[in-house]
Order: sequence, then structure tokens, then C-alpha cells
Amino acid sequence: MKIAVLGATGPSGIQLVKEALQRGHDVTAIVRNPDKLTDRHEKLKVVKANIFDPDSLVPHLTGQDAVLSCLGCPPSWFSLWTVTFYTDSAKSIVTALRRADVKRFIFMSAWYTKYNSSDPFMINWVLKPLFLGQSLKNMGEMEDYLETECPDIEYTSVRPPQLTNAETTGASVLHHEGQRVPSDKRVVCCRRDVARFMLDTAESGNFKRKCMAIGSG
Ligand SMILES: NC(=O)c1ccc[n+]([C@@H]2O[C@H](COP(=O)([O-])OP(=O)(O)OC[C@H]3O[C@@H](n4cnc5c(N)ncnc54)[C@H](OP(=O)(O)O)[C@@H]3O)[C@@H](O)[C@H]2O)c1
Repeated sequence: MKIAVLGATGPSGIQLVKEALQRGHDVTAIVRNPDKLTDRHEKLKVVKANIFDPDSLVPHLTGQDAVLSCLGCPPSWFSLWTVTFYTDSAKSIVTALRRADVKRFIFMSAWYTKYNSSDPFMINWVLKPLFLGQSLKNMGEMEDYLETECPDIEYTSVRPPQLTNAETTGASVLHHEGQRVPSDKRVVCCRRDVARFMLDTAESGNFKRKCMAIGSG
């Protein structure tokens, strides 16, 4: 497949590019700073573009079978008050997808993007108010935008819990349509498993217009 990767310089994006190349895909890494991607491969093209400017994305999305995004906005003091990174970038990317006539868009989000009173105390009363609330809220708004305003886009929201840099065990990646993967044990997800799940999803065509919680098995 021809795959464009956004956020290819981040820790998940790097794993996604590696896994995609190992599977034999043609990969276009769309980055803001090409110097950050030092790996070279005959099937890897690294291009510079601005994710908030559809005009700069369109030439690199044209002809792709799927666009996979590992974009993320690192937490800052400002992000305690408001985050619009996910909706702003998604709107620009969708505009570019439409102009480039690409329908498949698979992106990273997270567990617990929507408020649910039955979610764990730590999530609703510690993690969200003190640390990640605005980021999770804006990821949920991005998912709502895709669901309600983009009926033409075959999106999959891939929702991991806490990410790790551990090696994959190679076991099947746990997945469940919803806010989280039901489990009695604490579930985390290594970034390589996120990459495996995103590529399995692109290759199979599964989970179109769905939000899939995942975890390392
Ligand atoms: N950390 C966790 O435990 C966790 C859990 C669940 C979900 N997530 C979500 O998973 C995703 C990936 O997380 P991660 O920790 O692997 O990666 P990350 O550190 O969030 O990586 C961010 C990527 O986005 C790019 N980026 C950020 N702002 C950009 C901008 N204005 N223009 C262009 N590119 C921009 C970065 O490019 P540069 O390299 O140029 O900065 C980098 O490639 C994020 O959305 C994160 O919120 C994280």
C-alpha cells in the first residue's frame, strides 16, 4: 500500500514508519522538521509540510491509499486551560484528504476521550482535571467532528491507554469498540502495538468509522 504518515518524528510515528517499511509498504513521512528523521530506506520518502495548511498537505496525500496520523500535542501549562490542536489539525487534514481524493484516515486518540460518570475515580477526578482533561476533551471533539461532519471519510480512531516503549510480544493487540478495553488488570500499550494495529486496520479495511480502544495483549 501507499501510506502517508503524519507525526512520523514522534515516538509512535517512528514505530509506525518502521513497521510499515518492514511490511513492504511505500511510506511518505510528512513532517515539519525532516532533519529529525535520519533513517533512510528505498521505500521511505520524507517530505516537509504544515499540518494546519491543507495546500501544503495535498501534494503529499494525492495518490495515497491511506493516511495514518500519530500527531500529538505535548502537555504544557497552556493545555491545562484549552487544547484545539486535535480539531484544528483534523479539519485541515480532512480538507486536504478531500482535495486529494483520499478516503482512509486512521489516527491516534486515547482511552477516555468522552466523559462517563462510571469511569474510574482517578480518571474523572484526578487525571482529567489536573493533567490531561483538555487534550482528551479535544480528541473527543476531533472524533465527533469526523463522525458528524465527515460522512465521506473512512476514519478509524485508534484509542490507546498509557503508551510504553517496550518491545511488542507479538501477541494479538487487544481491541474493543468503545472508551476502553474491558479488563480486570491494568492495561497499557507499547507503541509498536499501536503501529501494528494501525497497519492491520489499514491493510484489512476493518473498523471504518469506528473508535477502537486498544491495548497490548
Ligand atoms: N503518551 C501516552 O501515554 C499517550 C496515551 C494515549 C494516547 N496518546 C496520544 O498518542 C499520540 C502519540 O503520542 P506519542 O507520545 O507517541 O507522540 P508525541 O510525542 O505526542 O508526538 C507528537 C508528534 O506530533 C508532531 N507534532 C506536534 N505538533 C506538531 C505541529 N504543530 N506540526 C507538525 N507536527 C507536529 C511531532 O512532531 P515534532 O517531532 O516535529 O515535534 C511528533 O511527530 C498523541 O496524540 C498522544 O496524545 C498518548
